[in-house]
Amino acid sequence: MKIGVVGLGYIGSVTSVALAEAGYEVVGIDIDESKVKLLSAGETPIYEPGLKEMLVKNAKKLRFSIDYNELKDINYIFVIVPTPNKDGKIYLKYVEDAIEKIKQINKNAVVIIKSTVLPGTASNLMATTGMTIISNPEFTKEGTAIEDTLKPDRVVIGGNNKNAIEEVKKIWEFTGSPIIETTNENAEMIKYASNSFLAVKVSYINEIANLCEKVSGCDVEVIAKGMGLDKRIAPYFLKAGIGFGGSCFPKDTAAFISFAKDLNEDLSIIESAVSVNRSRISRIVNLLEDKFNGKETMTRIGVLGLAFKANTDDTRESQSIKLINKLLSIGFKVNAYDPIAKVKLENISLFSSARECIENSDAIVVATEWPEFKNLEIKGKFVIDMRRMLSLNNDSNLKVVGHYG
Ligand code: UDX
Repeated sequence: MKIGVVGLGYIGSVTSVALAEAGYEVVGIDIDESKVKLLSAGETPIYEPGLKEMLVKNAKKLRFSIDYNELKDINYIFVIVPTPNKDGKIYLKYVEDAIEKIKQINKNAVVIIKSTVLPGTASNLMATTGMTIISNPEFTKEGTAIEDTLKPDRVVIGGNNKNAIEEVKKIWEFTGSPIIETTNENAEMIKYASNSFLAVKVSYINEIANLCEKVSGCDVEVIAKGMGLDKRIAPYFLKAGIGFGGSCFPKDTAAFISFAKDLNEDLSIIESAVSVNRSRISRIVNLLEDKFNGKETMTRIGVLGLAFKANTDDTRESQSIKLINKLLSIGFKVNAYDPIAKVKLENISLFSSARECIENSDAIVVATEWPEFKNLEIKGKFVIDMRRMLSLNNDSNLKVVGHYG
């Protein structure tokens, strides 16, 4: 069976390669010729562990192009294009354009929307285009994207066309994962409700971490472990830290809140999660300001990690970048190091090793949980460890997220 994929960004390229690995012939389309060229040459536009190897291994089953005509004879076409926020609202133009172009080439194709879209979107698009649309949200984490696609916890398939649903079920049967078959709207809502819930979980443990920092004898890591062993709570997404970032949580929580507002409903728990997340940055800045009050312009803060989490080069909505911008606005000097992620930020000095960054800084913030930061020895400097990477000691110069002292 041949499958089409429109949009070769993070999820699109991973989905194409994973489907080829599962045995399908895949034609991937993108309007960005540079992405098409890279993938055709066996290179990936993003850093994702294992992706390049799997792309090369399955090269014979994969074709990439900028030409929608390649989709002429393909009956099942995934749409995996971005759905960014514009002025606080979800921007659907890329999805609409992709479906319109598919329609011009092959109006009988079944469109499978994997892009994250608000409840009601697929139904509206079916009404305006007359095409059959299936909603099939992804739950893929960067860093484990291939595994998440080949063996997801569940596959959600929404639609109102029985035949199309059955065919899309067959596409994902190889995963052996439970399949939820439902309406387009439920499928769309499951995605937002899931991501927002995980964001709430992260903010929840971050607030408990704040409390632990004030109560002698408390440690959020132990508390999270004790909570997580309760099957109803589960251990995942209970790691206190710098707060959530990335291409999904900030965008999806914002879109969901605004969607609810338009329906005169408040998602107050999710709103609080977003506000707790924002205050992660001010907490760090307050600590640094207390320590270096009046000496900001002479103080160099070394930020270890730019990626929004480890094992990715993605800096979208990274808390680390937000922290850097805030520090710069106050007048601090900023040094930074990340093993993979690169950013073009004016007025900061980028170093090529953690050691160099540390040596040239007066204070350090560990912002991303890159394994190489584990147990780094940092002597004689004020350190804020937002990822629990360093060994605890009784040094008052070491501030550790979720730990008293
Ligand atoms: C997320 C969702 O998990 C995925 O289902 C969705 O499809 C896309 O968005 P991703 O953006 O790759 O995936 O990141 P994820 O691993 O979920 O982490 C999100 C953020 O929360 C990161 O900034 C991470 O550092 C933070 N986080 C996560 C914590 O601070 N603590 C945790 O315990 C877990």
